Amino acid sequence: MSVTSVMSGDPTIGIHDLSFATTQYVLTHATLAAENGTDIAKYHAGIGQRSMSVPAADEDIVTMAAAAAAPVIARHGAERIRTVVFATETSVDQAKAAGIHVHSLLGLPSATRVVELKQACYGATAALQFAIGLVHRDRSQQVLVIASDVSKYELGNPGEATQGAAAVAMLVSADPALVRIEDPSGVFTADIMDFWRPNYRTTALVDGQESISAYLQAVEGTWKDYTEQGGRALTEFSAFCYHQPFTKMAYKAHRHLTQQGGHDTDQAEIARCVGPTTTYNMDVGNSYTASVYLALASLLDHADDLTDQAVGFLSYGSGSVAEFFAGTVVPGYRSHLRSAMHREAVARREDIDYAQYRVLHEQAFPVDGGDHPLPRETTGPYRLAGISGHKRIYEPR
Ligand code: CAA
Repeated sequence: MSVTSVMSGDPTIGIHDLSFATTQYVLTHATLAAENGTDIAKYHAGIGQRSMSVPAADEDIVTMAAAAAAPVIARHGAERIRTVVFATETSVDQAKAAGIHVHSLLGLPSATRVVELKQACYGATAALQFAIGLVHRDRSQQVLVIASDVSKYELGNPGEATQGAAAVAMLVSADPALVRIEDPSGVFTADIMDFWRPNYRTTALVDGQESISAYLQAVEGTWKDYTEQGGRALTEFSAFCYHQPFTKMAYKAHRHLTQQGGHDTDQAEIARCVGPTTTYNMDVGNSYTASVYLALASLLDHADDLTDQAVGFLSYGSGSVAEFFAGTVVPGYRSHLRSAMHREAVARREDIDYAQYRVLHEQAFPVDGGDHPLPRETTGPYRLAGISGHKRIYEPR
């Protein structure tokens, strides 16, 4: 490793605060398995999932995003936030950035730029890197990065077991309290149709096995570039946060990475490096852009002291774009965590049966421009009140 190259860029910019929110409801894989006749071991052991978050009728990416970001604003204020970057695959409008609804719900100052970013599940990592660039230009500024998604496949599709929903809000600033993000990054792009969603569809199209191969190819590509850019050696990392469409994918990816790095694929070592990152994702399911940062939340909330240790991040977005980068955990980080709130966000969800899930899954707004209020279901802090004149109406609950 070249120390100078690892320390190039500005090592004192990174994640100052991190908060996540998820949905009102949860569908367990036991319920799904009982409905579709799948051996539950395939879900629990085969893909590593126990349950998935399901939005209530009056929840979406905006309500989850506002719920995730509100505690960040409450703790730090909005005075230094001049940019909000909202990354999502589940955009609610082709033109208007979903972050503007969040800006409004949270009462952020008008002197803010708000923009939406898209590249499947990778978008939030682009947002994080762009945020670091903005803070590098003016260290007094902070950037609110939000990743929020609802993962949805057709009923009966093999992807159905890998749905989920969550939002992560991260405050990016100089002298961060949680994780310093390092240079360099390893980046990778390949034009591949492994997972995509044409504008006219509400559910994703996917070639499951092809998507797993494409992900592993991206692991290889990013690691090769990261190494060529002078990044750290594999053995320097204490843990690895992977994008987790299902948690077993993180184990597959890490096995592949260690093989690429010419190391033994010792199962216990892989479990040690990846296991603590999977706690939230195995209950929340795939949250697309948020997933890799839910993995970070899980790691920080559950691992033994990580002070000054290096964490690897592998962000993958089908289509495909990926990035490998490193972060160092900041001394004193534990006093800034939101572990109790995160556990409560997962534990408070209401269990629903298959029939209720099916109704929510098939819910669609009429497209006639009329007034269509939504039932009051969420007990979260914000709700989608309905749609009127083709406009989505949000309100605090
Ligand atoms: N007991 C224990 N394990 C079992 C089992 C049983 N009874 N039955 C099957 N399994 C194991 C299988 O051996 C397999 O494990 P390995 O991959 O380690 O061999 C695992 O359970 C899954 O079995 P299948 O491959 O047969 O499952 P499937 O055909 O139903 O599809 C899937 C699984 C491809 C992940 C599917 O859920 C899917 O298409 N999901 C959406 C796409 C996706 O998540 N792709 C991931 C990479 S792309 C990405 O990361 C971007 C993104 O977010 C979408």
